[in-house]
Formats: sequence, structure tokens, C-alpha cells
Amino acid sequence: MTTYFITGGAGFIGSTLSEKLLKKEYKVIVIDNFCDFYNPKIKENNIKDLEKHENFKIYRADIRDRQAIKKIFDENKIDIVMHLAAMAGVRPSIENPILYQEVNCMGTQNILEEMKSHGVKNLVMASSSSVYGNCKEVPFKENMIVDFAISPYAATKKANEVMTHVYHKLFDINVMMLRFFTVYGPKQRPDLAINKFTRLMLNNEEIPMFGDGTTSRDYTYIDDIVDGIIKSCNYCIENKNVYEIINLGNSSPISLKEMINKIGQALRYRT
Ligand SMILES: NC(=O)c1ccc[n+]([C@@H]2O[C@H](COP(=O)([O-])OP(=O)(O)OC[C@H]3O[C@@H](n4cnc5c(N)ncnc54)[C@H](O)[C@@H]3O)[C@@H](O)[C@H]2O)c1
Repeated sequence: MTTYFITGGAGFIGSTLSEKLLKKEYKVIVIDNFCDFYNPKIKENNIKDLEKHENFKIYRADIRDRQAIKKIFDENKIDIVMHLAAMAGVRPSIENPILYQEVNCMGTQNILEEMKSHGVKNLVMASSSSVYGNCKEVPFKENMIVDFAISPYAATKKANEVMTHVYHKLFDINVMMLRFFTVYGPKQRPDLAINKFTRLMLNNEEIPMFGDGTTSRDYTYIDDIVDGIIKSCNYCIENKNVYEIINLGNSSPISLKEMINKIGQALRYRT
């Protein structure tokens, strides 16, 4: 039975992915530190049902703790790592860049080191569309130069792409770096716009809009992201010498105004 190790497995994407893998009868090992970036009770709730599953095991630990990571690799025969644990979000990274560096860069390197020493050869990891920063050319393409990050968060994700390449070259680790574009759907992080705006509308509160609402972005439904992650895992497992960066998103951006209208329509249909 294939064993998947998911970092950040109590989060929005990680818990949805865990659920899907358990349904497919795989073994799922999770690490999560239940940090307070948003209410940890939401994360507890995300994994409440998963914990009842015999093929699910959770370690409540921090990826910055090298010994904790080593213990997980010592105790489990891991086939593939899905590294989703991170401090996410552009704005908060400007407030606390050192934390972002420690979790996203040092934490990632701890995972890579333990993969190396335990001979685990497959890694699928979350990067972000934030690496495109102020790129004006659309649609964004993976071969565009993204050396000019405009937030600490984006810089850590770009650094992850570079460091994982080092481990790929030196230690034959297959790597798929997936650049996600704002993911939405059930369990979406409360700091993200669709969740935030929906709560505001339900409470009859005003929605804060930066600019005139014409700025557009791509949104990707959580099930599509989970499918993309699982397909990337299969690709890693079935192939050798893999290092790829992939935009896992759509190419039909919608404007902020349009998005707010769509939420409004959806809520009207509900009441
Ligand atoms: N959701 C999106 O729209 C989006 C877009 C682009 C990239 N991403 C990336 O995808 C990944 C998952 O995002 P998400 O939306 O599910 O976020 P999330 O915050 O819901 O999940 C991340 C999980 O990682 C855990 N975590 C954070 N620091 C940790 C640490 N030091 N040790 C152990 N666990 C830790 C958190 O407790 C959380 O449960 C992240 O790497 C994020 O940067 C997400």
C-alpha cells in the first residue's frame, strides 16, 4: 500500500487531499503544528473525521523541528511526500518575514534532508502564483523569469523551487513544484477573499474593495487542485529524473467585481 506523507495535512488543501487519498485506500501520514495563522479549531475540525480512519496517522509537530521530522521518517516507510505546510499569504508575510523564512525555507530543507537520508525519492510541493509578482505578460507561463519577487512569501516559494532543484540534481529526488492560483471551495482558508466576502455578506456588512474592482485573477476549485496533486504524485512515482514546475490553475480570470456579484447571486439562491 502506498504511503503518502502530507505536511500541513490539517489545513485547507491538505485535509481535502488526505480525505481523497483515504477514500482510495492509501495510507496517509500527516504533520501539522496547528499554528494560529487562522483559528486552529478550524483545522481540528478539518481532520475530525479523518482521525477515525485506520489508515490515517497525525503527528502534531513543527516542520522546523528536525528531530520531529526524523522520527516520522524513522517510524514510517514513506513513498511520497506532499509538502503543503507553509506560512501562506502575501500581506502577513510583509509583517513577519522572518517567520516565513524559518517555516517555508528551513522547514522545507528539514524535509528535504530527511528525504535524502531515508532514501525517499518523490516530492510534490506547493508553490504559488505569487512568484509571478508584477509580471505584466499574461497568461503566466512556467518559463517566465520570476527572479523579482515582491513579497517575502513569494521569495520563499521561489527559494523552495530553487532548493528542491538542488536536491533533485544531487540526490535524484523527483520533484513536482505546483504553482497554485487562489484555491477555493469547502474549508477554504478564512483569510482568503471568497470565504471572507461570503461571511461579510451573510452578516450584511460592507465589503472592502481595493481599487475599482476591475483587477482580475484566476481561481481554482479545490477538487481540481487535489486531482492535480494526485496526478503529479502518480507521475513522480512512475517516472525517473523528474523536476517540473507546473501552473496548476485555470486561464479564465474573473474580475473582483464579477466575483463579488457571483457570491451575491449564490447567496440569494440559498435564502
Ligand atoms: N490556498 C491557496 O489559494 C494557495 C495558493 C497558492 C499556494 N498555496 C500553498 O498551498 C499550501 C497549502 O495552503 P492552504 O491554503 O491549505 O493553507 P493552510 O494554512 O490551510 O494549510 C497549511 C497548513 O500548514 C500548517 N503549518 C504551518 N506552519 C507549520 C509548521 N511550521 N509545521 C507544521 N505545520 C505547519 C498549518 O497549521 C496549516 O494547517 C501552502 O504551502 C500555501 O502556500 C495555497
